[in-house]
Amino acid sequence: MTTELTQTTELDQFLEKITTRTLRVGVIGLGYVGLPLVLLFEENGFPVIGFDVDPRKAEMLNAGHTYIRHIGEERIAKAFRGERAEATTDFERLLDCDAILICVPTPLGVHREPDLKYIRMTAEAIAARLRRGQLIVLESTTYPGTTREELLARFEQTGLACGSDYFLGFSPEREDPGNERFNTKTIPKVVGGMDAASLRAAAALYGSVIDSVVPVSSTEVAEASKLLENIFRAVNIALVNEMKVVFDRMNIDVWEVIDAAKTKPFGFMPFYPGPGLGGHCIPLDPFYLTWKAAEYGTWARFIELAGEVNTGMPRYVVDRTVEAINRDGRSIFGARVLVLGLSYKPDIDDDRESPSFELIELLQERGAIVSYCDPYVPVARRGRKHDLGLASVPCTAEEFARHDAILVSTPHTHFKDPALYANAKLVVDTRNIVPRGAGARVVRA
Ligand SMILES: NC(=O)c1ccc[n+]([C@@H]2O[C@H](COP(=O)([O-])OP(=O)(O)OC[C@H]3O[C@@H](n4cnc5c(N)ncnc54)[C@H](O)[C@@H]3O)[C@@H](O)[C@H]2O)c1
Repeated sequence: MTTELTQTTELDQFLEKITTRTLRVGVIGLGYVGLPLVLLFEENGFPVIGFDVDPRKAEMLNAGHTYIRHIGEERIAKAFRGERAEATTDFERLLDCDAILICVPTPLGVHREPDLKYIRMTAEAIAARLRRGQLIVLESTTYPGTTREELLARFEQTGLACGSDYFLGFSPEREDPGNERFNTKTIPKVVGGMDAASLRAAAALYGSVIDSVVPVSSTEVAEASKLLENIFRAVNIALVNEMKVVFDRMNIDVWEVIDAAKTKPFGFMPFYPGPGLGGHCIPLDPFYLTWKAAEYGTWARFIELAGEVNTGMPRYVVDRTVEAINRDGRSIFGARVLVLGLSYKPDIDDDRESPSFELIELLQERGAIVSYCDPYVPVARRGRKHDLGLASVPCTAEEFARHDAILVSTPHTHFKDPALYANAKLVVDTRNIVPRGAGARVVRA
């Protein structure tokens, strides 16, 4: 009876604070996912504290500057120079927050195993300060069971009871940086709670700033739904990449095949081939499930197969480039090759896991002199796996004409201008963006 009374009180107070916009939201991890969330809550009248371990990010935000190109300086300045938003590295401030949303990285380790260290560090930082009335939601992509095993287990040791003293949920992030049709507010948000009260608290919070909330019966369903979305993409991209190789041998243009197939108004969804997978999600997240599946003595064979096909793509594209250069009577050794695009998708500056890095390294291994052009990435950053030590060449027809081959990796809008290729010798196009007849010989790969 007492528990029920307490439950009603904490939940009611939480819901009331949402209505009056007195609920303070904390967002941990101010990257591609966390920063848009901070802005969304701030712009909807909530006081927000953003937490990050990187002091430069906190400093930049508080000074009104952005470090993510597609999130404009103006929006950041408006939010952080006002009264409601601030950024900090001081995790004691978690005590001031009524809701804490976790958006820290979930990478893979060297053996493709989930690396949960950022989630664990965060869970410990919260557990040390957990108080009554708080809602904690994990948003980082991870395998089913993480919220229960890594968060609940640590929070239980505080003696506080989930569902009555505090609330806990999982809500996957579906951020698509650079997408002009959908944004954080308009993308429906799946929400799972550890119990009914947690689900109500989390659904009410997101529902106050997001157009459509999709409640599910558990945190595990919410965790699994995000993985299914990413696995669906990885498998379908692998399928179409395999079709590209098969049709290419048959001298059939896979792009034309897809355009024809997608006229079917039902039962078909187009996916497009490319030089390999990139980004923080699709190349990595599916392996969170294969790893967890093994614990249950079961195997996710589609994921492994898709991984094999997709990771083979950079090598396939480089082989095709070597053949095309050879057909021009040149050797790859000493050839000047210009790779177009370092970011992993069009019109953004995110170069994480981009296949362009591998294309460049494979070409260099074969003796080519490689440059890159990317208006979004003026200097190639040193990453976990790559250190190219290169800077972008200018995006001009004169520059393009200086190379023996142009290899299109990222379909940036900049690269769609046919005039750029007027004097180019050879274009190997993995994205179908360079029209045939643009001047150069165009080979699709
Ligand atoms: N980028 C996307 O498009 C996208 C889309 C959907 C889901 N996700 C998922 O969202 C999560 C975050 O991804 P992201 O792209 O925003 O990553 P990111 O690398 O852009 O940002 C993560 C931020 O967390 C900070 N950080 C690291 N450890 C921390 C800690 N212990 N405490 C506080 N801050 C810490 C980092 O400094 C960084 O600023 C991942 O699980 C990712 O898989 C990303």
